[in-house]
Amino acid sequence: MNEPTRVLVTGHNGYLGSVMVPVLQAAGYEVVGLDMGYFRACTLGTDNTSVPEITKDLRAIESPDLQGFDAVIHLAALSNDPIGNLNADWTRQINADGTVRLATMAKAAGVRRFLFSSSCIMYGMSEAAVVDETAPLAPQTEYARSKAVAEEALRALADDRFSPVYCRNGTVYGLSPRMRFDTVLNNFMGSAFTTGRVEVHSDGTPWRPVVHVQDVARYFKLMLEAPLQDIHNEAFNMGVESLNLQVSEIAEIAVEAVPGAQLTMTPKPGADQRTYKADFSKFSRTFPDFEFQWTARMRAQELYEAFRSIALTFEDFTDKRFTRLRWLDHLLKAGMLDDQLRWRTAQPRVA
Ligand SMILES: NC(=O)c1ccc[n+]([C@@H]2O[C@H](COP(=O)([O-])OP(=O)(O)OC[C@H]3O[C@@H](n4cnc5c(N)ncnc54)[C@H](O)[C@@H]3O)[C@@H](O)[C@H]2O)c1
Repeated sequence: MNEPTRVLVTGHNGYLGSVMVPVLQAAGYEVVGLDMGYFRACTLGTDNTSVPEITKDLRAIESPDLQGFDAVIHLAALSNDPIGNLNADWTRQINADGTVRLATMAKAAGVRRFLFSSSCIMYGMSEAAVVDETAPLAPQTEYARSKAVAEEALRALADDRFSPVYCRNGTVYGLSPRMRFDTVLNNFMGSAFTTGRVEVHSDGTPWRPVVHVQDVARYFKLMLEAPLQDIHNEAFNMGVESLNLQVSEIAEIAVEAVPGAQLTMTPKPGADQRTYKADFSKFSRTFPDFEFQWTARMRAQELYEAFRSIALTFEDFTDKRFTRLRWLDHLLKAGMLDDQLRWRTAQPRVA
């Protein structure tokens, strides 16, 4: 392992973070997590990861929180479009303003490398055949806008002491101890497994780059170790051409992985027609030795086996714990979060 060695991972209790932290720890990194803990209780199976953690809101980060780190991997966010529709202010304040606050304090504390978990979703309804990192952004939702605003603000902080990197992910799939069934392939697989059906409500043509959660963990580790001159203030579409799939193909993969499952396509007005086919050539040019280990087909099979081994039920699949918006809604209605999405009850600050 090269420098850096001490890494702050924000959002470590989320879907990606719960997979990434053990990968970094196994590689010898000293990891500290920082998370508001919204989804700490939302486990599918058990999470045996043990990591020193700071339970804190991004919006309340202070400079001492950032002391002594070589790098920050910034995953914490309200992580999908429907939450942005519920309350645009929260998404803006956490995803954009919270990111700027975190980065400003990281820079002041001498943190050199800041890996921002961004999204290809910012390309929106691109008419271009493929979108590379130079394509104009056309964010269609508050979530997508918050990522675009954050990237722009981080660019203004970049200098010879501070290197932000914009890791634009596709839609992530695969098993995590903090499972999400509100992303496309996970949702189709859960549906195929527990109901024997996959229903596509669009015409199936939109493109979605997908990427396996283990590969995401591996390429963030790669970014920790990459020479700074290769990544300083650069955006990367993180993925590989073979994982640019149309929604109909993703549905077929799910149906094929589950014996007897059937696909129905019933386009509805107002269906999600966002489409973006990402060009991944910059990533492969910069990191020619990195291999994406998981094809969607292989990993749909993995999900099938995993669901069998835990005997996933329809109740699990549709449980609010695995749909980010529904879980936050539950915490709000139960009075556990206030109207600023802050805990009403004290949470342990450092474990
Ligand atoms: N999962 C995907 O398909 C995908 C695709 C592209 C980009 N991303 C980005 O990757 C990151 C991780 O995604 P994920 O799927 O793990 O999301 P997630 O919702 O599972 O995890 C996000 C974590 O951030 C924490 N968080 C939210 N607001 C916070 C705040 N104010 N202060 C501190 N912590 C807070 C949550 O508690 C949660 O643990 C996000 O930035 C997301 O936008 C994810």
